[in-house]
Amino acid sequence: MNSTIRNQFPSLQRTHQGKPLTFLDGPAGTQVPDKVIDAISNYYRMSNANLHGAFITTQETDEMMLATRDACAAFLNAPSQKNISFGHNMTSMNIKLSRAIGRYLQAGDEILITQLDHESNRGPWLRLAELGIIIKEIAITENGKLDYEDFKEKISTKTKLVAMGMASNYTGTVNDVAFARKITHNYGAWLLLDAVHYAPHFSIDVQAIGCDFLLCSAYKFYGPHIGVLYSKTGLLDMLDTDRLRTAYQHAPYKIETGTLNHAALAGVKASIEFMASTGEGDKLRDKLIRALAGIEAHERELAKELYEFLNGSEKYELVGPSFNGKRAPTLSFYSTDYSADELCRKLAAENICAWSGHFYAIRASERLGMQEKGGVTRMGLSIYSSQEDINQTIDVLKSI
Ligand SMILES: Cc1ncc(COP(=O)(O)O)c(C=O)c1O
Repeated sequence: MNSTIRNQFPSLQRTHQGKPLTFLDGPAGTQVPDKVIDAISNYYRMSNANLHGAFITTQETDEMMLATRDACAAFLNAPSQKNISFGHNMTSMNIKLSRAIGRYLQAGDEILITQLDHESNRGPWLRLAELGIIIKEIAITENGKLDYEDFKEKISTKTKLVAMGMASNYTGTVNDVAFARKITHNYGAWLLLDAVHYAPHFSIDVQAIGCDFLLCSAYKFYGPHIGVLYSKTGLLDMLDTDRLRTAYQHAPYKIETGTLNHAALAGVKASIEFMASTGEGDKLRDKLIRALAGIEAHERELAKELYEFLNGSEKYELVGPSFNGKRAPTLSFYSTDYSADELCRKLAAENICAWSGHFYAIRASERLGMQEKGGVTRMGLSIYSSQEDINQTIDVLKSI
């Protein structure tokens, strides 16, 4: 199964200085399979047009856009394509949403964010302080988990929104979203989830979670650079978004501005179909659930092996939770001998692609004391990761 999957990725076939590359940079963006590349180039070859016209290419574009919204609805188990909006990336969609929510709230209302989140789910909300909205942050524990006692203490009837991640792109922590939904319901607050790091690794059911908003980004799940927003039926229609009077004034279009990246959207549909093709079932949703269960198990096994090596090594210190419970296959660590940047350069010399720094989860990096250490090195497993990748990485880490 692994070689069938790997053969679909052209970049996995390339070499650099005579040797293949080991891609452990998935948390910053995964590699892209042929199906997605073909969908994008076929759109440009055959169907490139703007929307809602009388001729064939515009009609094909309309159909493709609806089909992509449907595929995203199946991916997230949204009730319909009307719950799915698109934008450049998660950050810009969250900025637009925060501006609209800011207009809806009143001075003195509160928003809860977390110390663990990527800055894209903190900065836009922190900005609302200029409207008199009070922003509080849920603390994190030493091993990079949310402090749920602090969560309970900070939420109140004044809280109108809790904006938190489903999984951390820094520590791999998977957050307790069921707890968050229960407590936000009790206080009547909206729950907004950043699923950017969660979506490539686990299946998502927005209706079962009961969240109000959820954002993800297709370039983290084998697709192009597109942000996807799920909004619960009726919510987007209530909000005063930034838009032109010539644009549609209702969901899902109400938060979309200008002409979208049509070709990339053709690629988003193909990326969801690519993941689904690794699972069995009649309907796209059934295939996706099985496919993601397989992806989760595959990535977890490899990540656990790497984790155990790092945990047992005297040269490296892991940051983040253990593998006892559910966690993302993303490992951050530092070396006792080299800075994170130096380590990444040494890995790059052996064709191992890994990132160093704070990965925009800068608040977590500060709180965990990693900023003063020069950041961490991060390695993430993806559907195409192989046992050879892990063997090679462990060998190189041992030799450094
Ligand atoms: C957890 C998480 N949230 C949000 C983002 C921002 O996504 P985008 O690049 O689509 O704005 C990232 C990107 O790395 C991320 O890892």
